[in-house]
Amino acid sequence: MDAVKAYAVEMTVHLNGLLKLGEVMNLIEKPKFEEQGDLAFPCFTLAKELRKAPNIIAQELAGKIDHPILEKVVADGPYVNAFLNKRMVSKHALTSILKDGSAYGSINYAEKKNITIDFSSPNIAKPFSMGHLRSTVIGNSLANIVEKCGYQAIRINHLGDWGTQFGKLIVAYKLWGNEARVKEEPIQELLKLYVQFHAEAENDSRLEDDARAWFKKLEDGNEEALSLWTWFRDESLQEFGKIYNLLGVHFDSYHGEAFYNDKMERIVSRLEESDLLQVSDGAEVVDLAEHDLAPCLIKKSDGATLYATRDLTAAVYRQETYEFERSYYVVGHEQSLHFEQIFLVLQKLGYDWAKQLTHIPFGFILKDGKKMSTRKGKVVLLEEVIQEAIRLAEQIIAEKNPSLQNKADIAEVVGVGAIIFHDLKNDRQNNIEFSLEDMLKFEGATGPYVQYTHARACSILRKAEYEDTATKGLNDSYSWSVVKLLMEFPAAIERSFNYQAPSQIAKYLIDLSQEFNKYYGNIKILSEDEELESRLGLVKATTIVLKEGLRLLGVKAPDEM
Ligand code: ARG
Repeated sequence: MDAVKAYAVEMTVHLNGLLKLGEVMNLIEKPKFEEQGDLAFPCFTLAKELRKAPNIIAQELAGKIDHPILEKVVADGPYVNAFLNKRMVSKHALTSILKDGSAYGSINYAEKKNITIDFSSPNIAKPFSMGHLRSTVIGNSLANIVEKCGYQAIRINHLGDWGTQFGKLIVAYKLWGNEARVKEEPIQELLKLYVQFHAEAENDSRLEDDARAWFKKLEDGNEEALSLWTWFRDESLQEFGKIYNLLGVHFDSYHGEAFYNDKMERIVSRLEESDLLQVSDGAEVVDLAEHDLAPCLIKKSDGATLYATRDLTAAVYRQETYEFERSYYVVGHEQSLHFEQIFLVLQKLGYDWAKQLTHIPFGFILKDGKKMSTRKGKVVLLEEVIQEAIRLAEQIIAEKNPSLQNKADIAEVVGVGAIIFHDLKNDRQNNIEFSLEDMLKFEGATGPYVQYTHARACSILRKAEYEDTATKGLNDSYSWSVVKLLMEFPAAIERSFNYQAPSQIAKYLIDLSQEFNKYYGNIKILSEDEELESRLGLVKATTIVLKEGLRLLGVKAPDEM
């Protein structure tokens, strides 16, 4: 039984056909303050219709509305406010959460229709940047969220493994490279070669020509070029794999830019046939002036294809392969123009599914207010940052809970969880400040705080040797605040899906943790009385929702910490 619906039905009956049930449902809101009740029905719309003051209408209605699920109905100015029967509603809500377990909050929007999610997508032979970290964390969570909503997520890592930079890398390696050193520290060594190339090319323009020539060889399938490229790619992938392992992220496809090398001709001819290609400064472009956008570059003057050409091809390939219902690109907002261009070109080509493509942008990670860079000389290696978070987590745990078993495993879950949560609790469009110290605090809006709340609830259940039993519901105001939040979990999931915003779930989990900790601080959960089982049911339901909510973010919830 749904309390909002019961209230709305009751209201509709007494409105004698003035409003339809759906209209009443849409009008019902939450009162501003908790003391005012649980549901509020505003009478402004009716006032016009009935030519009566809303306050009067509210009073008349309040006197008529009566339903066992409503403890009390009062007029509060122009509103009809209802207080729900806590015991009845909590019994119903807790019973269904306990029964559904981790499936609670699932929505079946689409019977397993596909949503492709292009995320992480780092560049070969370059460090995994902070931007790639954000993309990885946000994309992974979105994948979990769309699956919770009944879709099938296709996780795609669109590796940056093609382009003229590989020509430069091959030239640099052949001139100054050393096999053993690359094997030892692939990313750092390849980056060094890349940097050296640019330094030397300033005085020696022939290097750039050589690089172009080597990239051309690579594109034409030259064996030496190809084998060096494969090697660089494999070494890089192994490095990235370490980060994905730590973060608990996996992909369904690693088709990067190179994969589309032999598939681009088709889209280029289609562009030609549709008369969309223009020559500008020797390059071939699609003009987008009518949309007030810079032209989309398809081919350089030397015939080489570009990032955009590969993205156009990839979009078509994905539609043909996965018949996606939607297609997400989780990429920083500095690439907004690129995606606008790509989507428009696909529309011009007459692909009606182009409207199903969405760029999901996000802000920068800042350190002391400045953009954290992995480019200029000093490289912040992401794996080291994560290891540092784990080390810090281990220290904190050793202090707080010295007798804890398997500290190292839990420190990993907490350190990694802290990084992920810190990212996702912010609206993704915002820039975020990277501070290991802040994100690892056990109090405040952090991952460890939510994890700790979950572990605390688990420990209560362990002490009580709780086994799932029926709940009779609860009647006090502390438990009521928790129950109301537990009932809001599905709505938080829905919002996170609609706005592609994992932050909706992260914020919800902080609220729930705070409310649960208030409950814990004010109520003797373990006293032996007739409500013990119901209180434990509330604790159990809280663990279910915290754990599932964290899972949707890509964060693990240990039972102890
Ligand atoms: N490799 C690119 C970069 O690091 C991101 C790729 C994003 N995905 C895409 N389909 N363009 O900037």
